[in-house]
Amino acid sequence: MRSRIGIILAAGKGTRLKSDLPKVLHPVLGKSILQRVVESLLPLDLERLILVVGHQADRVQAEVTQWQLPCPIEFVIQEPQLGTGHALMQVLPILPADTQTDVLITCGDMPLIQTERYQSLLETHLKTHATASLTTVSMKNPYGYGRIIQEDGKFLKIVEEKDASPEEKQIPWGNAGIYAVDWPVFSKYLSKLDQNNAQGEFYLTDMMGHLVKEGHAVSTVVWPSEDEILGINSRHQLAEATTILSRRTADRLMTDGVTLINPDSMALAPEIKVGADTVIYPGCYLEGQVEIGSHCEIGPQTVMRGHIQIGQTCKVVSSFLERFVQVGDRTYIGPFAHLRDNAIVGEQVRIGNFVEVKETRFGSRSNAAHLCYLGDAQIGDDVNMGAGSIIANYDPIRDLKHVTEIQDGVKIGCNSVLISPVVIKKKSSVAAGSVITEDVESGDLAIARGRQVAIPQWVNKTLSAMEQAKSSEDSSCTLPT
Ligand code: UD1
Ligand code: CA
Repeated sequence: MRSRIGIILAAGKGTRLKSDLPKVLHPVLGKSILQRVVESLLPLDLERLILVVGHQADRVQAEVTQWQLPCPIEFVIQEPQLGTGHALMQVLPILPADTQTDVLITCGDMPLIQTERYQSLLETHLKTHATASLTTVSMKNPYGYGRIIQEDGKFLKIVEEKDASPEEKQIPWGNAGIYAVDWPVFSKYLSKLDQNNAQGEFYLTDMMGHLVKEGHAVSTVVWPSEDEILGINSRHQLAEATTILSRRTADRLMTDGVTLINPDSMALAPEIKVGADTVIYPGCYLEGQVEIGSHCEIGPQTVMRGHIQIGQTCKVVSSFLERFVQVGDRTYIGPFAHLRDNAIVGEQVRIGNFVEVKETRFGSRSNAAHLCYLGDAQIGDDVNMGAGSIIANYDPIRDLKHVTEIQDGVKIGCNSVLISPVVIKKKSSVAAGSVITEDVESGDLAIARGRQVAIPQWVNKTLSAMEQAKSSEDSSCTLPT
């Protein structure tokens, strides 16, 4: 088979987003627009992948090199950015015109295109032996897109929105902005592009008209839905892309047996996995490597972002889980719990209101039902953390974190503070209101608070003394008649 190379155009500024961040680095449900584009190209097994960068090139390159991709990406710098055609001209030094290859060209601002679509474009291109193949969709509102102009039912050229006549603007056929081209023939005509248009740019789209004029075949592939070709040029389109991607995930989950109470109220990243018979209530935001077991109840109002794993038959209600969290089966979290950064929670656990868990292993059948902070701790099975108990893990003077260990079967009384590092050994107990600074031996009860003192009749004596003082004051104020 003929070799295939991919080119992604990502040098533009994205002026309409009015942002300090380069357009292609804006996130859509946890991954940047560009990362979503690159990931949809990877399964095509392209021989090389070339990325044209320009505006804030350093920042885009730095981001891309962090992704740990299975294949290297070659960068080409476009400076200044004089249009999509000009962007392609910059590739010629590393992809000379005599390279016998087909090239798939796509834009770095279209995160919704699925691999199958690229695949079908490449297949049509191969089958039709065209010099170039492009994709078009009949759009409800094609404003902003190039329009496909036909003559006698045959493709003639693409006209950009800004250059289109009022009649051309009525054409519903929009240019998706992805192309497959026979590089040796196509690239020869790049030098023919000019800037004689409303934007003063070298338009890649003009290439298609040139090829037709020169007698080359240009195929058009019609796509069924306009959702996928959404290019992100504004914050409105960024929001639209998020909605489409989330709705796509929702459809997949519902097909797989997940109940979503009002899917339009939630944001669901494509990466998330959810088991059958789980119910997700309104207002949930789930992004990243989120894996939820079956028969769970999630939400309302729950955020999971990062690497989050939830077992089977769990409840996670109105809570915030971020970065790295693992939760065992039949565990109940929330409402209003915060689990983050290596919170490893066992089975049949109860983590209740206003409990924060960080860098902590919390064993099976253990409870922290109300108002706790559990940080940098190893907590065993069958432990009860009383309401308001706190692990004081941080030494702010030396800026150090210390680890506390609470072994199996320990009961920690309400409002206790464990000053790390301490070890509370098996089946021991800490009395309510204690401040623990030393290890507690197995089976012991540790009490570390002021002993209660009773002052007999203090209240009664105080009240009568006050009354006496008041009556003598009243008589001294009586005026003579
Ligand atoms: C482009 C097409 C339009 C199509 C639409 C689909 C052109 C002239 N127009 O318009 O027909 O309907 O995409 O979304 O091609 N870029 C560069 N260098 C530049 C300019 C742009 O690399 O000098 C990159 C951008 O980063 C972006 C992509 O090319 O990823 C498309 O550029 P953009 O300015 O968004 O083009 P559109 O106006 O959307
Ligand atoms: Ca665009």
